[in-house]
Amino acid sequence: MGVRVWLSRESPETPAPAVEQLSTDGAAAAVTETAPAVVNAASLDWHSLEAVVSRCRSCDLHRGRTQTVFGTGDHDAQWMIIGEAPGAEEDRQGEPFVGRAGQLLNSMLQAAGFKRREVYIANIVKCRPPDNRDPRAEETAACGGYLARQIELVNPKIILAVGRVAAQCLLQSDTPVGRMRGKLHRYGDKPGIPVIVTYHPAYLLRSPREKRKVWQDLLFALEQSEAVA
Ligand code: URA
Repeated sequence: MGVRVWLSRESPETPAPAVEQLSTDGAAAAVTETAPAVVNAASLDWHSLEAVVSRCRSCDLHRGRTQTVFGTGDHDAQWMIIGEAPGAEEDRQGEPFVGRAGQLLNSMLQAAGFKRREVYIANIVKCRPPDNRDPRAEETAACGGYLARQIELVNPKIILAVGRVAAQCLLQSDTPVGRMRGKLHRYGDKPGIPVIVTYHPAYLLRSPREKRKVWQDLLFALEQSEAVA
C-alpha cells in the first residue's frame, strides 16, 4: 500500500539494473552499469537519504532541475504535509513550498496552530517537472522510495495530503480530491498512518472560496491527530 519502497525500473525490454550499495554516509560504493542505479532507500538515515536524493538520476526529471528539493521541518513532527512537486521557486531555493502556494500553506498551518518548522513538509517528487506539469507515473514511482523512507523516519501522527497528485499517489487511488476529503484514510501497513486529504494551496489561490472547505479539513485533521495516543 502507498508509495513503493523500491525504485524498480525493470521492464521486459531492459535488463534489471543493479541495486546501488550505499555506505552509511550515502556515498555509492559500487555503481556497475550505465543506466541509473536502483536505490534501496529503506534503511537509510536522514543524512544518507538526503545525500542519495541529491544525486538521484532515477528518472528524467533530474535533467531539468537546479537542485533536488528534499523536504524540510521537524524530523519528529506530529504532522507531515505532502505536496506534489517543486515549482520554480522551490527548485531555485531547494526547499518545498516557498512560493505563493507555500505562503498560503504557512497560513493554513498557522490557523491550525503550527509553525512551519513544527511540521515536516515533503513532496511526492523531489525534482521540478518541466513547465510545472503533473509528475508522470514513472517519476512518482522512481521517487516513491524516498518519500516512503521520509514517512517512516518521521512516523507522523497524521499526514495531510494536499492536492490530487499527493492524495492519489499516497493512497494509490484515482478518486477525485473532492470525494477523498472528509474521510479518514490510512497509509502503509496496518494500522497505517492516518491520512487527511485537502485541496492544494495553489488551487486555493485560484479559488479562494474553497478556503472554507480546507479549514474544515484542518479541523478534521486536528481532531484525528488528537485522537491518536
Ligand atoms: N507545490 C507543491 O506541491 N509543492 C511545492 O513544494 C511547491 C508547490
